[in-house]
Amino acid sequence: MLGHRISRFGSAIVKQLAREGYISTLGRRNLQRSYGHYLPSLPIVQRQTRTSQEAFFLKNHRFYTASATSSEQGDEETEKITIIFVDKDGEEIPVKVPIGMSVLEAAHENDIDLEGACEASLACSTCHVIVMDTEYYNKLEEPTDEENDMLDLAFGLTETSRLGCQVIASPELDGVRLAIPSATRNFAVDGFVPKPH
Ligand code: FES
Repeated sequence: MLGHRISRFGSAIVKQLAREGYISTLGRRNLQRSYGHYLPSLPIVQRQTRTSQEAFFLKNHRFYTASATSSEQGDEETEKITIIFVDKDGEEIPVKVPIGMSVLEAAHENDIDLEGACEASLACSTCHVIVMDTEYYNKLEEPTDEENDMLDLAFGLTETSRLGCQVIASPELDGVRLAIPSATRNFAVDGFVPKPH
């Protein structure tokens, strides 16, 4: 009878300690080894797991709070720019694009007919777009060597050609017009083999 009470009392303490995260799996096992007959099966709570769960919560809590605050303040509209796609027939299609989104993603989100065969891994030139105004072209960051290599393979290359997957929407690009070439060349499909430099 006394043993049973001690067992229940000990169990309650260890459960509480485990819940608080003060007892690691190892510590709990040692306790059970020593006082096994007083400590029936207890939930295993690992301090480390709890800590990482807390960290995950705190990290995401901050993220969600920031997002909520941002949308509450109505910032979403101001964080978008207008990109005007000019299709193969010369028709202009303006779309709203969030800052940070690539031109290729923006095209796909808005059902614009712009390919992207390699899914932005810089292994094709099917996302080729032509910046129609030099003023905007000069605002873009310089293309990397990898982008230039792929652009060399693009059909109808011009002085203001870029790969859509490498152009990221930024405030200074608001109003940019991007022409979609009448054809693309995908060496993976067309049997085009890039020459080493
Ligand atoms: Fe292939 Fe842009 S999608 S390089």
